[in-house]
Amino acid sequence: MQEIDFYMHKFLSELSYEPIITMSQELKSGKKLRSKLLLKIAGKSQISYKICAIIELIHSASLLHDDVIDEANLRRGVKSINARFGAKNAIMLGDILYSKAFYELSTIDTNLAKIISDAVVKLSIGELMDVNLSQNFNIDKNKYLQMIYNKTAVLIEASARCGAILANLDEYDFAQYGKNLGLAFQIVDDMLDIQSDEKILGKPTMSDFKEGKTTLAYIYLYEKLNQNEKEILQSFFKKNLHQDEILWIKNKMQEYAVLDLVNLELKKYAHNALQSIEKYKIKDLEEIITNMIEREF
Ligand code: IPE
Ligand code: IPE
Ligand code: MG
Ligand code: MG
Ligand code: MG
Repeated sequence: MQEIDFYMHKFLSELSYEPIITMSQELKSGKKLRSKLLLKIAGKSQISYKICAIIELIHSASLLHDDVIDEANLRRGVKSINARFGAKNAIMLGDILYSKAFYELSTIDTNLAKIISDAVVKLSIGELMDVNLSQNFNIDKNKYLQMIYNKTAVLIEASARCGAILANLDEYDFAQYGKNLGLAFQIVDDMLDIQSDEKILGKPTMSDFKEGKTTLAYIYLYEKLNQNEKEILQSFFKKNLHQDEILWIKNKMQEYAVLDLVNLELKKYAHNALQSIEKYKIKDLEEIITNMIEREF
């Protein structure tokens, strides 16, 4: 991962504006899942490292904007950039990371540039869908799936596809793998918001529902609740919840075994992902799926 950090730092240093370095250092390093995926498929080379650095810049930009949108004050275990430097700085730093990433891409390869920039358009549309869906209490699972496909799975799909292109493998098989992995990835992220601890996760917990996001567990819970309980859950929507209200939600999720249902859905995507690349017999790609599903942050 050092090579990727090297390129990220190089790209940002070339912009010769000190606040960019100061702020991006405060962003800390993430899990680099998209890079690990690309490298497992493409193998190690300078061009792979460069593409990974570009994808990580794009991913970081999306997080900078996402934390402004979600009004989140914690990211990767430290104060988010918007909490520390204000939303104006976070938005512009995000724009700078996106634009520098596209500039670097344009100097490498048109085909890869097309795939990745198209993914970023969809990512942004996905974030917009997320914002729009959270206006009301969404109970439509298909709308949820379409939204998470765009906001999260598309960039993971593009990473896997670019990896396959670099390695001369079938790009569509790997795109399919990335798509299913990406869907499972966001479903896990949404579960961790409910199940995890802020200290382990490094970002706020129980914050999706407060932001109006009825993630899969809430959609399933709503289906199971009786009329009276449905009204109680709806009355909590977009509210700053008290401890007893949070407990009510968690208890009901347990009572109706909602997280088991979410896990079942997850397994479906993991299975689909595996099927798409079965014939390549790449053990590491199976491991990526398992690690991703069993992760704690
Ligand atoms: C967080 O992505 C945003 C989602 C798409 C769920 P990651 O979980 O990959 O974030 P970092 O880079 O490891 O912090
Ligand atoms: C956003 O999803 C994913 C992006 C495309 C940035 P979330 O809003 O759930 O991501 P986290 O939980 O803040 O990382
Ligand atoms: Mg968020
Ligand atoms: Mg968000
Ligand atoms: Mg989340």
